[in-house]
Amino acid sequence: MLITLEGLDGSGKTTAWEALHDVYPDAVFTREPTESWYGDAVYRSMGDEDADALAELFLFTADHADHLSRVVRPALAEGELVVSDRYSDSRFAYQAATLEESELRRPLDYIRGIHAAFSRPPDATIYLDVDPETAAARAGATNKFERASYLRTVRENYERLIDAEPHRFVRVDATEPPEDVVEMVERSVERLVREHDD
Ligand code: TYD
Repeated sequence: MLITLEGLDGSGKTTAWEALHDVYPDAVFTREPTESWYGDAVYRSMGDEDADALAELFLFTADHADHLSRVVRPALAEGELVVSDRYSDSRFAYQAATLEESELRRPLDYIRGIHAAFSRPPDATIYLDVDPETAAARAGATNKFERASYLRTVRENYERLIDAEPHRFVRVDATEPPEDVVEMVERSVERLVREHDD
């Protein structure tokens, strides 16, 4: 099964993902952006204040396509548990926010449409919920995506995604202390795996 972790920067998602390695030593742990050269291209675009927002969406999407064919689909075909730190919802939430002011009329629907044609949706998604101010302060606002005003729109997009598919998401309160967040994520994954196996 495919479980993804999502949330704003500074939500503690990566810490939780790392903690899960010990609990599920046989699972495949992966992330987006990936460490491939597609991922490098994504990071290069993220570092460019003037990057074209649509071009950037396609770089992220190219990285996702490669991630799917190289890592995610083969692992799922082997019956592995795959846990990804960020996945398609990051595009729906972040790039829809970046493209809000663009000529695209409904960026979130557009980006979902692109993915629908080729992607493999997660079986479950753990959403680490944190307010944009805390997220921006924790993340240190080192890249253009980490500013509070931008993260406010990203969070609204995540809420729209959760409203559209409430059963896929498990919401965890990420304003709690990190050790409590890790524990809540671990318990959620345990329940999801058990329900999937039943
Ligand atoms: P992340 O790996 O969470 O941050 P870090 O490199 O600090 O560990 O993600 C990097 C940034 O990329 C983050 O600000 C969110 C952004 N992002 C998108 O905008 N769209 C995407 O599809 C993905 C996967 C990430």
